[in-house]
Amino acid sequence: VPVDPFDLVVFGATGDLARRKLIPALYHRMHDGQMPEDARIVGVARAQLDAEGYRRMAEAALDEFGGEDARDAEMRRKFLATIDYVPLDVMEEAGWSRLKDALPTACGDRPRAFYLSVAPRFFGPIAEGVHAAGLTDANSRIVIEKPLGHDLASAAALNGVFAGHFSEHQIFRIDHYLGKETVQNLMALRFANAFFEPLWNARHIDHVQITVAEKVGVEGRGPYYDGIGAMRDMVQNHLLQLLCLVAMEPPSQFEPDAVRDEKLKVLRALAPLTRLEDVVRGQYAAGPGMPSYVEDANAPTSRTETFIALKAEVANWRWAGVPFYLRTGKRMKSRVSEVAVVFKSAPHSIFPAASGRAAQNVLALRLQPDEAITLGMTIKEPGPGGMRLAPAVLDMTFADTLGASNMRMPDAYERLVMDVIRGDQTLFMRGDEVEAAWAWVDAITARVDGERPELYEPGSAGPDDALMLMHRDGRRWRELA
Ligand code: BG6
Repeated sequence: VPVDPFDLVVFGATGDLARRKLIPALYHRMHDGQMPEDARIVGVARAQLDAEGYRRMAEAALDEFGGEDARDAEMRRKFLATIDYVPLDVMEEAGWSRLKDALPTACGDRPRAFYLSVAPRFFGPIAEGVHAAGLTDANSRIVIEKPLGHDLASAAALNGVFAGHFSEHQIFRIDHYLGKETVQNLMALRFANAFFEPLWNARHIDHVQITVAEKVGVEGRGPYYDGIGAMRDMVQNHLLQLLCLVAMEPPSQFEPDAVRDEKLKVLRALAPLTRLEDVVRGQYAAGPGMPSYVEDANAPTSRTETFIALKAEVANWRWAGVPFYLRTGKRMKSRVSEVAVVFKSAPHSIFPAASGRAAQNVLALRLQPDEAITLGMTIKEPGPGGMRLAPAVLDMTFADTLGASNMRMPDAYERLVMDVIRGDQTLFMRGDEVEAAWAWVDAITARVDGERPELYEPGSAGPDDALMLMHRDGRRWRELA
């Protein structure tokens, strides 16, 4: 469905996110007929370029990150024609008039979005700047990305900065995990099917595992990452958002505040983590031909964690006693993100010991690679060998089902940017959610920051203590395929 014509002002237009994600995402939306030709993208950055110079940069971004579809010459021409550029140092008052010249003062009926693809120290000046320049009205919105603070106090201060100029329904806080296909599917799976809901509770679910494992290290991102670490970079946002979608009560409608109210209740129900053995922090060591984290980050004495595993609990009636094990790390064995819901075993086995043991049922939602929903079950081993039990997997890999095999899987940003234009906040975090997540995280970081993380081998499943975290409970992590 095409969106209305819009103006999108991208601050930080020459940066990495704009080149890798935003420009290609917008191109694909136009290619697929969703972005109208009279939409406008206004790039803003300090570089002294003219519109032609920025269009060349956008073209290079399409060459590098646009994939097959970006080869369509006619479509490229149309897309590049929507792009304008304004050189502006947001810290200097003088440049703002140039942005005013490039945009009509009132949004009129065109949604106008200011996308802040810049470091957080520029958030305040930009929110202030667009307001002072008279470029905002009821039809404008502002889009921001993490880091949304580094603790509760800084996140609350940031919320305050935006609240000074925009109302909550105009503020779009991106967590790109919410734009991933499988994450949205988690909601469809839970709330569009009747048969999971009766089982979706502590009576039937043994535990939940949420894994976001990456193969890459921090590479050039050391200056941002050091002192931040996996807890703030990944758990506070992506992993807790996934946990919320698994644990929340059914909202009464698929409507932004109904969904976000339920997620907020989950965050507020997270039990404070009291036992230190329920948190395992790791840091990747050097491997053959691969530098260690401290070398990558050029921080020889750093105690920043590049891996963290946690055992969390949602303290409410539905989930009492069900552990949520979370883990995320860099430079691990493979790139796997998944949510696995592990069900309790059948209450009584009717089969003789010689049949073998039934495996626990596991519903797994794989976010990447190869988006899929799988259901691990136990069946009879085929053949005349008597009643032998064997594990089997019902596999719904999206590329094979739904006729999606030759379909390009859209990037999360494509969905999210169009939602901004439509004014739909369902997949964006509300200010109070961000603060509630920080409140839980702060209580943990206050106790473990500065402790020496356990070194782990690159290409492994993380430190040994992370395995122990589950072994102690008689459980194990799923394999990182
Ligand atoms: C970002 C983190 O939010 O998510 C990165 O800052 C991380 O450290 C990235 O690499 C992972 O995203 P994805 O989509 O590649 O799983």
